[in-house]
Amino acid sequence: MRAVDIIIKKRDRGELTREEIKFFINGFNNGEIPDYQVSAWAMAVLLNGMTARETTDLTLVLAESGEMLDCTVAVPVAVDKHSTGGVGDKTTLVVQPLVAACGLPVGKISGRGLGFSGGTLDKLESIPGCRVDLTTEEFLDQLRSVGVVLTGQTANLAPADGKLYALRDVTGTVQSIPLIASSVMSKKIAGGATAVLLDVKVGSGAFMKDLDQARQLARLMVEIAEGSGRKSVALLSNMNQPLGRAVGNALEVREAIETLHNQGPQDFREHCLVVAGHMLALGGKVDNAEEGRKAAEVSLENGSAWDKFKTLITIQGGDIEYLDAPERLPVARYVEPVRSTRAGYLSWVDAQIVGETSVDLGAGRAKKGEPIDHAVGIEVIHKVGDYVEKDQALFIVHANDESRFIAAKEQLLDALAWSEQPVDSQPLFYEVIS
Ligand code: URA
Repeated sequence: MRAVDIIIKKRDRGELTREEIKFFINGFNNGEIPDYQVSAWAMAVLLNGMTARETTDLTLVLAESGEMLDCTVAVPVAVDKHSTGGVGDKTTLVVQPLVAACGLPVGKISGRGLGFSGGTLDKLESIPGCRVDLTTEEFLDQLRSVGVVLTGQTANLAPADGKLYALRDVTGTVQSIPLIASSVMSKKIAGGATAVLLDVKVGSGAFMKDLDQARQLARLMVEIAEGSGRKSVALLSNMNQPLGRAVGNALEVREAIETLHNQGPQDFREHCLVVAGHMLALGGKVDNAEEGRKAAEVSLENGSAWDKFKTLITIQGGDIEYLDAPERLPVARYVEPVRSTRAGYLSWVDAQIVGETSVDLGAGRAKKGEPIDHAVGIEVIHKVGDYVEKDQALFIVHANDESRFIAAKEQLLDALAWSEQPVDSQPLFYEVIS
């Protein structure tokens, strides 16, 4: 077999066999097939697509390029959740303890933020001492003993995906639905998931800007799960405006703590309950997602989800005093509102602009590996549909640098659109795909 023939076949819209995909990806992973050939192939895939069968084969080859975790040695069903990334998306911090408190263990491998969307590991590291670098043995032991683990990816989990993603990032080939689907699902499969709840974000603050594309991605990921013997459900959720109120690492941890105390913003609380409900149904704990939602609500109200969160943080070395006194988590030097210059109904609160402003304040990174500032970020006080009076606070900016603080205050006003007429609030979810 020759790499060039595989590139030509895909250029001419052919369907690659499993053997061809295996030869190509394994050759790339072990250095025998150079970056320039893989770049040409990725562009051919972006332009000509892949069938569901090809995408499933690619997913499995990427997953099998490194260590394959077997969570069933620790738990009977390994349910995982994946969000395609958004602004203010601190869902994992709440959903994981909610589900675990209902008796369904969840071991989760999470990532860092990139671009304007935040990452769970960065949020978790706002809590002093909290480790996110567990070994495979620690992961499985903790899953077995307390039923809840939240850590980062080891270097040997789907390494071919890591290499391919880095190449796609610099060759304009990230935005390919089969490449995104196989990349996401390869990590879930290598991480040992037997069932996956996919939270596919749609809108200005998401990878997928329109519903049609998001639906295609969701359907493909559900097909990959089925084709590889796993269960999966995808939710299409709204990411036109930020989720909840807090955007920024320590701010989001505080909001997650509030929510676990059965308070917090209504939209975020509801989002978490729906996601948890589907996970409980996928894991066979309840008959359907509605029953799961009710069970999750009980664990929120009776404090058992909060106890699970404390167990998770304690066992991973986090200083529990910060959870009981979240005001001690990192705090920024400048904290001030952005006030409305007019009265009216909000018709748009742009998640991408809010996310980018938060990154500019230092909450995220422009390049992989850069340090971040856990204290900074934005509180979004009003949502689409709200009536706002002149001079009311629209946002609260948390900054550690005066010039960035001034720039953020101006930038945030561009995130808004107004209407004289009443505006409907935005839905949380669009569809469920199973
Ligand atoms: N997230 C991933 O893990 N891979 C992609 O290709 C895109 C988003």
